[in-house]
Amino acid sequence: MTTKVLVFSLFFGVSINHKTAFAAFRIQNVFAQDVLDIHLDSLLTMQQGLGSPHSLQVATGHEALMKLRREMPTPYTCTVTTPMGVTFDVQTPPDDRFESWSDNCGVRVRNVVLADEGRWRLTATAGNDSISGWVEVYVEDDRTSYTAPTISLQDGQTHANVELTTLDNLYCMVAQPASESSVVAGHCEVTLDRITRAVKGNWDVFLGLPGKINELHVQRQVAVEAERLDVGFIHDSNANKVHLYCNILVTEKNITFCRFQRTNAASGYNVMDGLSDGVHSYYGEGFDQRQCGMTLEQPTAEDFGTWRCTVGVQAWVGALVEQQTPLQALISVSSNNRVGFIYITARLEETEAQTVFTQVDREFTVMCRADRALRYCWFQHPNGTQYTPLPLADENQQFWYTGEDFQAGDCGITFSHATEADAGLWTCHMGPSDQVGVEVTDRLNVRVTGPLAANYQQIDTVVGEKATVYCRTSNGVRPLDYCRFMTPSFVGLSVDETVTEENAILNRFYFTPGRELNLGDCSLTISSVQYEDLGVWTCAAVVNGDTEEARDTVTLYVSDSAHARTLSQAGIAGMVFGLAAMLAALGGVVWYKRHTLFPPKRSNRSTDPTVGFSRRTVSTTSSGGSSNSSVLENLELPTITSQRT
Ligand SMILES: *[C@@H]1O[C@H](CO)[C@@H](O)[C@H](O)[C@H]1NC(C)=O
Ligand SMILES: *[C@@H]1O[C@H](CO)[C@@H](O)[C@H](O)[C@H]1NC(C)=O
Ligand SMILES: *[C@@H]1O[C@H](CO)[C@@H](O)[C@H](O)[C@H]1NC(C)=O
Repeated sequence: MTTKVLVFSLFFGVSINHKTAFAAFRIQNVFAQDVLDIHLDSLLTMQQGLGSPHSLQVATGHEALMKLRREMPTPYTCTVTTPMGVTFDVQTPPDDRFESWSDNCGVRVRNVVLADEGRWRLTATAGNDSISGWVEVYVEDDRTSYTAPTISLQDGQTHANVELTTLDNLYCMVAQPASESSVVAGHCEVTLDRITRAVKGNWDVFLGLPGKINELHVQRQVAVEAERLDVGFIHDSNANKVHLYCNILVTEKNITFCRFQRTNAASGYNVMDGLSDGVHSYYGEGFDQRQCGMTLEQPTAEDFGTWRCTVGVQAWVGALVEQQTPLQALISVSSNNRVGFIYITARLEETEAQTVFTQVDREFTVMCRADRALRYCWFQHPNGTQYTPLPLADENQQFWYTGEDFQAGDCGITFSHATEADAGLWTCHMGPSDQVGVEVTDRLNVRVTGPLAANYQQIDTVVGEKATVYCRTSNGVRPLDYCRFMTPSFVGLSVDETVTEENAILNRFYFTPGRELNLGDCSLTISSVQYEDLGVWTCAAVVNGDTEEARDTVTLYVSDSAHARTLSQAGIAGMVFGLAAMLAALGGVVWYKRHTLFPPKRSNRSTDPTVGFSRRTVSTTSSGGSSNSSVLENLELPTITSQRT
């Protein structure tokens, strides 16, 4: 009888114990020789095999359930020996923490305490038969809560590991704010392909901890912060100083230089800690704190305007430190707080929309610039469709964001392929970052033309006055091989820079001074428009490198108001000279516009600082220009109409 019991217990030991091989060998011996030859240690091994579970982790306050794996024929007595050495019959426990459990010999221990850790022994006895086994109990501190600080993640980071707890859990279930829950085996850590603001918020984590049936609910607050510039100014009127600052927040990058420039000034200031020119000096806690600022002592009226800060940065790329694209932002400095952004824009609205020229299937850019940081920007196509530009990510993208960045007030969109349908008036809508509710708009005219395009296709002119028929290359500045015109009465004229007012063709046609074939201009000035000049003109040229001649048409007409003008003309003739000076000033605008209208090609970021703030300059100058030209219009000078670009 005893033999049989032992053989059975050997079987139980087999699948459980590391002494399996030994036990298996013994079994064979038992059967083969029918000899009972059990060593003491194998007996102990076998008997532990009868305890279930073999080892048990339990948190304090929880219950432990232990039993013998094998049944005993009833009736039997079940005795328990605690790790402290106390032995009792389960039917008569010394303490109501203990209770008989299961059909076999077993015990339930309620409200486990640290002292319960150790080996628990169970023995079942029926007559001369007895079996016993033990259970190794490990008591853990009960964890009912877990708190940890907010997890801060950097927007845009890729392959980011987010560790949710440092606990020794078996598994965890993680519920992010806006996605499905997932179960993670082992250490509670998730890897995010890319960090976006969508992961921001409260994460619910349920942990499976050893010794606990109930999962531990942990909440982790996750913050997602983007690298950004903290931009502003402090006007210390007591000390008569203005401090401008452009500090980088949430970044791993280090500052390499710090530059400030008034947007309407030609040069800026290279600001460094400890240096001063008597007026301009560094403001901030140091480059190592990622702070870039400038103090202006005794600020002048001009200093209260828009400044641009440029912060040079470098970052680790793999094992190398590399220079990165500088960060830029605009600061509107006013002595009495906010300057009217809307005011400036309202003035912009009055000016004529700029024209962007492009060719079918070519890339084109609609670019607007605000004088302060933007939160967003979008565009309205002439047919009403709205476009919100995203950064260029792959070569097949149809349109993408163009410009420095929103901080710098740039709102630009580039389309990879122009179609005829893209021609018309586009609107940019810009949302300033420091105010809500007011969207700022600007308009741009897009013309989809051939390689050569007329600047204005309709020219309101006055007989006896000067007029200019102006065509130019439409997709950037490209030299022309020649330039010719055909008058409405089919007279062909071939012109270049050598044809001047002095040697004018037919005494009135000459190449417009200041323009150049090499810069893509095909421009004819008519010193005194005659009736035969009214009608449709054709300009034609071969763009260098092209095989075909390109053409466009321009219509010269005389409107009713122009007739009226002719009559009052004599009275204002004296003002023409004064206004000529303004036209020269407008020439500067023309130059600027031409450079703005043909923005750099994709990925070719502007390095010329003047290009960067051209619009600001344009807006200021052209606002001035617009009032000038409205004066001119009131004075009804035809010259302006044809010269205005
Ligand atoms: C128990 O063992 C004793 C002595 O070895 C024997 O006399 C007795 O009959 C046994 N009892 C049973 C129930 O087997
Ligand atoms: C930035 O500066 C710190 C401290 O000088 C340095 O440990 C770190 O490597 C630097 N990082 C870069 C990108 O230059
Ligand atoms: C507007 O034009 C764009 C580009 O040609 C086109 O994709 C879009 O479908 C048009 N929308 C409407 C409403 O016609």
